[in-house]
Amino acid sequence: MAHRITLIPGDGIGPEVTAAVVHVLDRAGVDIEWEPEEAGAAVAQREGKPLPRRVLDSITRNRVALKGPIGTPVGSGFPSVNVEVRRSLDLYANLRPVLSLPGIESRYDGVDLIVVRENTEDLYSGLEHQVVPGVVESLKIITSKASKRIARFAFSCATRHRRRKVTAVHKANIMKLGDGLFLDSVRAVAGDFPAIEYDERIVDATCMHLVIDPGRFDVLLLPNLYGDIVSDLCAGLVGGLGLVPSANLGDDMAVFEAVHGTAPDIAGRQLANPTALLLSALLMLRYLDEDEQAARILAALEQVLASGEARTPDLGGDATTQEFADAISRQVETTAPR
Ligand code: NAI
Repeated sequence: MAHRITLIPGDGIGPEVTAAVVHVLDRAGVDIEWEPEEAGAAVAQREGKPLPRRVLDSITRNRVALKGPIGTPVGSGFPSVNVEVRRSLDLYANLRPVLSLPGIESRYDGVDLIVVRENTEDLYSGLEHQVVPGVVESLKIITSKASKRIARFAFSCATRHRRRKVTAVHKANIMKLGDGLFLDSVRAVAGDFPAIEYDERIVDATCMHLVIDPGRFDVLLLPNLYGDIVSDLCAGLVGGLGLVPSANLGDDMAVFEAVHGTAPDIAGRQLANPTALLLSALLMLRYLDEDEQAARILAALEQVLASGEARTPDLGGDATTQEFADAISRQVETTAPR
């Protein structure tokens, strides 16, 4: 039976990378019935809001979505659709595997990190107000419930994937109450997983250590804001934002999207690398128990990257988004489904 999946192309490079990924999955013969839904700038202009209720209804119905990036105006304007999707569907865990890929020149070989980011609270709660002109208060919300829930997710994920260590990342030396509560909550859960080593690092030092020696980390567990920033840093370790996938997971629903944004500087010119969204789609196939299909497409992607047969400009090549997707599709077609 076909998987019915909500498809949100998004803004900027979103429509280009989603078209490329749908093309690869289609040519690989994955049985998916897409339910396209529009969210973002264009729909906001037309209907007055960037995230119509029908988009959330579609995801709730299908339980799975593949989503392109959606822009958020800086300063004024509508709140982030991305944050709203995660919060209103209670997709509390943001999973961002960061892996070196064959043939990609980057600072390090053999990077293999899992970034687990809390997705529903912290400074992303959207609670800001002007106290008096010239003074704004932005509320950072940390609860033991959400912190324990994301900690349990991180340790379970570490156990399932046979990882050795979970590192909680914080700034509890300064935010003694908020990040202190986060740490207390994680410690309470860590005790239930004695087979997994546990340590704690301050976020600024973590950034420095990641740049010098990413091999010292394994699974990183972070509140929302640090998770957002540190996962882009980690993308830089393996060759850039065009290469890193993510999954927003709730108890019985999931939205898969790349770590990157709408890349307005290259949008509409077929310059975007669809690898990050393709890897997100492979996480989605594994979520749907289509492991063999995911492995087959991953092998094709790795083959194309390793051979250098087609590369988008961010990787030093001159292939368009679609040419790169075509090269992967040709490769995947040579591997018959087992
Ligand atoms: P960005 O990730 O869109 O771009 C940063 C840099 O990386 C740019 O130079 C861009 O060209 C490059 N880049 C990103 N993805 C690429 C790809 N697939 N292939 C090749 N190069 C790529 O970050 P930026 O510029 O800070 O944000 C732009 C917009 O995207 C903002 O409105 C932001 O709010 C939104 N955004 C949305 C996200 C989402 O939908 N989940 C996540 C991050 C940002």
